[in-house]
Amino acid sequence: MSEHFRVHGGARLVGEVDVVGAKNSVLKLMAAALLAEGTTTLTNCPDILDVPLMADALRSLGCEVELEGDVARITTPAELSYHADSEAMGKLRASICVLGPLVGRCKRAVVALPGGDAIGSRPLDMHQSGLEKLGAKTWIEHGCIVAEAEGLHGAQIWLDFPSMGATENILMAAVLANGTTVIDNAAREPEIIDLCLMLTQMGARIEGAGTSTLTVHGVTELKPTEHRVIGDRIVGATWGFAAAMTRGDVRVRGVNPHHLDLVLEKLRMAGAEVTVYEGEDEGFRVVMDGRPKAVDFVTLPYPGFATDNQPFAIALSAVSEGTSMITENLFEARFRFIDEMIRLGADARTDGHHAVIRGVEQLSSAPVWASDIRAGAGLVLAGLCADGATEVYEIFHIERGYPGFVENLRKLGADVERVSS
Ligand code: EPU
Repeated sequence: MSEHFRVHGGARLVGEVDVVGAKNSVLKLMAAALLAEGTTTLTNCPDILDVPLMADALRSLGCEVELEGDVARITTPAELSYHADSEAMGKLRASICVLGPLVGRCKRAVVALPGGDAIGSRPLDMHQSGLEKLGAKTWIEHGCIVAEAEGLHGAQIWLDFPSMGATENILMAAVLANGTTVIDNAAREPEIIDLCLMLTQMGARIEGAGTSTLTVHGVTELKPTEHRVIGDRIVGATWGFAAAMTRGDVRVRGVNPHHLDLVLEKLRMAGAEVTVYEGEDEGFRVVMDGRPKAVDFVTLPYPGFATDNQPFAIALSAVSEGTSMITENLFEARFRFIDEMIRLGADARTDGHHAVIRGVEQLSSAPVWASDIRAGAGLVLAGLCADGATEVYEIFHIERGYPGFVENLRKLGADVERVSS
């Protein structure tokens, strides 16, 4: 028997909500623990399925992993296995982030290729060419990506696109390479800064974190550390959009508001009153009186508007006054979720990378299916603005990214329940 969410629309979300550590940071930080023998401790880990999956993946490489509340303790042995092709690895989209650390530590890696994804093709060409520049040979064999190197050396690397995953893998291989590596057109996401911060605490020498040029001076050894995972800016944005769409008043804590500067600016343009609280985890407050106004969105790597927030932009546009144009530049299949929005009464059409959404006064409840984490959360937000009860199926996607989603929604006054299908 599976479960789904039943969302009764109409409530105005009011109150406070806490955001936990970022999914797209914690998994990489857990992989980075492979780089140092001994016990690395991560705090503020989110209670999502991918964390125990990653723990199993690390255990299959020889680590001991203890998960207790929001703390992960990873003890990495002197001799690691380089075969990352266990069942847990295959289930984890982010499993590819062990590639760089394994090549760095073991000079070889066999990593199960992540399976297909509903958001579109996820090539690994930049991961491969970056590692090859560092001196590794890479190829695909029996469903795995294989990398081998006699030794890694520093190199000048230009990325075609500021890919988060490629930046992370190259960085984690380069920290133990012989000499200096420069990664140009590197990703600048806050999660990359978080990784650089932790690697630096471990003894890595990295300059330029948060800029598009990362310079890494290789060291011979890293030591374990203790590190707090940054707050999840995508979860934070989800609550900001939910507040704006339900004409609510929500204070979001646990996230750095400056990681959401563009999101908050868009919400202001839509008519919200936004207050930013200075301080690492102080967050922000979004108050919306009246119907949101249509705003255009273009997804781009950070500091652009994140592709992960695109479903929320579509959900907001669906109930806004006027017409919005949304341009998706990263994952072409992310617009598939619009078909589910149309079931909910959205007036939307797509043409290639662009979607045009004409806002309607109210959406209309319907059964809908989540196809990935963010699309699922976007459908729940839309359900909050629909008449009647919207049934959202395939919620395991949503729960991969949102710990306590229903509980938090209910705390803010939404009429949402988890029911057996
Ligand atoms: N790309 C290539 N070649 C490569 C690598 C990437 O062409 O070798 C392309 C991709 O196809 C895409 C673009 O570059 O068009 C950006 O991909 P990126 O590598 O930055 O994405 P990722 O590292 O695979 C992470 C997040 C995604 C998020 C993207 C973009 C994790 C585990 N995943 O993926 O998060 O959408 O960055 O910001 O960190 C999510 O959380 O729901 C999610 C999908």
